[in-house]
Amino acid sequence: MKPVTIHTLKKLKDAGQKICMVTAYDATFARLFDDAGADVLLVGDSLGMVVQGNDSTLPVTMDQMVYHSRCVTRGTRRAHVVGDLPFMSYQNSVEDAVKNAGRMVVEGGVGSVKLEGGQEFAEVISRIVRASIPVMGHLGLTPQSVHKMGGYVVQGRDEDTARRLLEDAVALEQAGCYALVLEAVPLELAKAITARLSIPTIGIGAGKHCDGQVLVSYDLLAFNPSFKPKFVKHYAQLGDAVKAAAGTYFEEVRAGSFPDDEHSFRSTNMRLVASNPEVVPAEREEKNGVYGVPV
Ligand code: KIV
Repeated sequence: MKPVTIHTLKKLKDAGQKICMVTAYDATFARLFDDAGADVLLVGDSLGMVVQGNDSTLPVTMDQMVYHSRCVTRGTRRAHVVGDLPFMSYQNSVEDAVKNAGRMVVEGGVGSVKLEGGQEFAEVISRIVRASIPVMGHLGLTPQSVHKMGGYVVQGRDEDTARRLLEDAVALEQAGCYALVLEAVPLELAKAITARLSIPTIGIGAGKHCDGQVLVSYDLLAFNPSFKPKFVKHYAQLGDAVKAAAGTYFEEVRAGSFPDDEHSFRSTNMRLVASNPEVVPAEREEKNGVYGVPV
């Protein structure tokens, strides 16, 4: 179990401290975000879009979610890891839902699961929670319902839909959710829901009054600089940085300037006759191994 638990998140809400959540899909990014101080890492089914290149999250499978969850939990030391239940892994039956939530914990190593939807999933949520698996809810713009919503559009803008979302939020808390993601809803509605619930709300495109915030990591790092919906802030320009670094590498390869002597191995015999001080001494290389891992 990681040091940050669902109880830590509740304490943060009660203390008025914001919860920091970000998506991660592999061990390297998980380690970086964990070191940077994330409270929660979400293995989001958004990986279907940003990692797999699909135009929705719908094709993501249970096996893929388990695989990426395992990668993320291996790279995480401190943060709570929550994994998305993918489309059709919990909609068909309560039995499927409990079994698939169990796979995420047992095989993926996550500390909780997230699923999308309102009061129609109250029974599913309470059964998963009864199996001792904490559940994070997700209301508002729920990407797995893209066809029903008619696109990725802001939800709860008029009084009727706002009231329904508030009722859904209360139902999810009563069903046993330990936290709730609010996606693409007006900030006034997110504020009302946050005040009404005793569990933390975590917003994405839901304004500043939520108890915490989540962003898709590839968005906040601008891996795709032209993708910038209103709620996304680019905290770095890694898409441009990656292109520039790779471009320089390709130039040097084409020019024959990489690899140079500094990045090449020499044979032991040659080292015995050479007096080049830049060559790694044989003993150090043998002790540290080629990749710097002690051998
Ligand atoms: O899959 C995901 O990344 C998510 C976030 C957008 C909350 O569900």
